[in-house]
Parts: sequence; structure tokens; C-alpha cells
Amino acid sequence: MASYRTAAGDGRDGRLQSPTFARNSPPIIARLAPWLNGLAGPVLEIGSGTGQHAAAMALAFPDLQWWPSDPDAAHRASISAWQAHLRAPDRPALALDGAADWAADPGVAALGPLGAVVSMNVIHISPVAVARGIIAGAGKALGRGGLLIFYGPFKENGEHTGAGNAAFDRGLRAENPDWGLRDIADLTAWSAAAGLDREAVIAMPANNRIVLFRKA
Ligand SMILES: C[S@@+](CC[C@H](N)C(=O)[O-])C[C@H]1O[C@@H](n2cnc3c(N)ncnc32)[C@H](O)[C@@H]1O
Repeated sequence: MASYRTAAGDGRDGRLQSPTFARNSPPIIARLAPWLNGLAGPVLEIGSGTGQHAAAMALAFPDLQWWPSDPDAAHRASISAWQAHLRAPDRPALALDGAADWAADPGVAALGPLGAVVSMNVIHISPVAVARGIIAGAGKALGRGGLLIFYGPFKENGEHTGAGNAAFDRGLRAENPDWGLRDIADLTAWSAAAGLDREAVIAMPANNRIVLFRKA
């Protein structure tokens, strides 16, 4: 996560910046709006990173309670710093590990049934246990009709969706053999086992996808 160690501003308030946030945020907000508007229950983000998306989403969807989380303490500090800098609602990030039984975390339980669980650019840069854990936890923590939403690069039925993603996947696996692009077909099977039905796959710029599942 070396790229996230880039400081924003004068570097004194702990804000880190993602090189892809500015490009990716507007289309994510636009394409998720029809799904997020009117959602019942709070939204929990797993792996919020710098916190730029969390602050942007909280400001774009003021009727939602967008709760960030990240296992990395420097990232949690950055999340708070972005909330303060952008005057977004002050919601301290939870220290959640997606591979653990995060739905049982007291901070998650205190939120009550969730309207959505969102994880962007996390499950390819972590072991497969994180993808499976996020899905299993969403099955427990979402309220009826709640959404599990993944954003990032994915494989589809065993194939890469483009040469760029194939090269990216090779690079990830070279860096850590446990990392790599996940296949939407696998996510769909794991989600079905957790009581979540696939609702939509949305093509996004740069060969990314939004993948949505709904709790029956
Ligand atoms: C590439 S960053 C994406 C951050 C942010 N969602 C974004 O799109 O800018 C991946 C994030 O996943 C977090 N992460 C890594 N392992 C994790 C785990 N086991 N559970 C939850 N988050 C994890 C990292 O700390 C990092 O903040």
C-alpha cells in the first residue's frame, strides 16, 4: 500500500491520498446513486483506505449514515482527517478485518441491521479469506433487502476482462501469491451460500465493475 503513504495537504493532519480517487469517485457516485438513495439502515464500508471515498460518499448521500472501517491505524487516522478537512460527518473508522467475524464486532452490532456493506478495491489486494469473510459477514449484518457492493477489477467466468487487468493480476500475484483479481462467478457462489443473491454487474471506466448482491 505504498502509494497510500502519499500525504495530502501539508502532511501534518494525517490525510493520505489515493492516486485513483479523483478519477474513480464521480462515476462510482453516479452509478451507485440509484441503489443507495432510499436505502434503509446504515452503510458500512470495509477497507476504507485513505477515507477519501468515505467522505465523498457521506457528502454525496447525506441521508445515509456512511461508516468507514480499516484495519490499518494510519488509514483510520487519514479517514478522520478527511472527514474533518471536508466537513463530512465525524464517524470514527472501525478497526475491522474483513477476514474475521467482523459482523460480531461490538461497533458493528451497535449499528443495527445494515442497509449496505460496501468494499472498494480491497478483495484483490488481500487473501481470498477477506473476500469470503466480507461476504459471510454481510450475510449476517445486512438487514432484509440490504446490499453488498464490491467495486474494483474482477475476472468473469475465469477470464480477464482486458489485457490491462491480466497484467495487473500478474503483478499482484508476483507481489503476494495470496492476492489477485477475484472471479465474479466465485463471489456469486459464496454470496448465494450466505443468503445473498446477485442483483447486478455494472461496467465501469478502466475495466472496473460494480458487483451488487442483495440479501433475500
Ligand atoms: C487498495 S486499498 C483501497 C482503499 C479504498 N477502499 C479505495 O478504494 O481507495 C485497500 C484497503 O484494504 C485494506 N485492507 C487490507 N486488508 C484488509 C482486511 N483484511 N480487511 C479489511 N480491509 C483490509 C487496506 O488497509 C487498504 O486500506
